[in-house]
Amino acid sequence: MEVRGRSCPVGYRYRPEALAQPARLQADTLYVVGGLYGNPVALEAVLERADREPGGPAAIVFNGDFHWLDVDPDDFRAISHAVLAHHAIKGNVEAELASEGGDGGCGCAYPDYVGDDVVDRSNQIITRLRATAGRFPELVRRMGELPRYLTADVAGERVGIVHGDPDSLAGWRLALEAMEPGDPAVRRQVGWRGQPTTPDDLLGWFARADVSVLASTHTGLPYAQAVPDGRARRLVVNNGTAGLGNFAGTTFGVITRLSSHPRAPADSLYGAAVGALRCDAVALRFDLGRWKARFLAQWPPGSPGHRSYLTRLTRGTHLRLRQAARAGVQLTGGGERP
Ligand SMILES: [Fe+2]
Repeated sequence: MEVRGRSCPVGYRYRPEALAQPARLQADTLYVVGGLYGNPVALEAVLERADREPGGPAAIVFNGDFHWLDVDPDDFRAISHAVLAHHAIKGNVEAELASEGGDGGCGCAYPDYVGDDVVDRSNQIITRLRATAGRFPELVRRMGELPRYLTADVAGERVGIVHGDPDSLAGWRLALEAMEPGDPAVRRQVGWRGQPTTPDDLLGWFARADVSVLASTHTGLPYAQAVPDGRARRLVVNNGTAGLGNFAGTTFGVITRLSSHPRAPADSLYGAAVGALRCDAVALRFDLGRWKARFLAQWPPGSPGHRSYLTRLTRGTHLRLRQAARAGVQLTGGGERP
């Protein structure tokens, strides 16, 4: 029997070869923004930062789950319009909103090490969000037409942008906790068990997708890891969430910045180069007071959104920065400012 929030709908599946297409966009600097989770204040910060890029405005790809906690119709509409004015792929949230009465719950395809209480609350959140989305059929239709993956070209390197992993929109195989070599502390914290993702798995995906970089978000914890490939190297980067805190004791979001300019930006947390491409995890700082007020207006104490996300909003996660900067990736210092 399939359980809501645990299943992976057939429509989520694709093959890594699907990414081996001509690049859909080429940019000097590109932001990959995943897991905005309905935070309009973080969205403003992304757009403002993109406009401040010294070489001209950055291109942006929103790689899914831009909606989630925005059950307020005004927020839902504003976020939809802003995101759809840029490049975007769908996450499980948008895919579920656009699915015809289907009910995979939140579509997160949660693995069995994620507790039933978390899955139940996510299913309650998507039910509320679906009611809001029902007021905007045209926006939902456009979300349903978004692609599930996108290939970009930055600095002559091909970048495969997915929501989950190279096999599925809601796949968990690019989760930090799945990556080899495994981080025992991270695996213990999340209670991980399952199939590890090995360097050979990654090299197989890179070859089949014909990309040098894979950028993901769905699983919520950020990291970057270089993968040696003969005399070259490839890179996996997961931005965690743009709209919520990511690290212990912090409240800023994280986005992935890819650029043909070789210098790490001042707000880089960690990064690496692949050929002429510079990749950084960038701290996305926004007005927490404004975001918290928006959040509490929609998810008061006792609500499923409050119970699942307030702590993450105000205190981040268990993750330390050094655990996110994995093999071949350097800490750059931008996370030290509170
Ligand atoms: Fe997701």
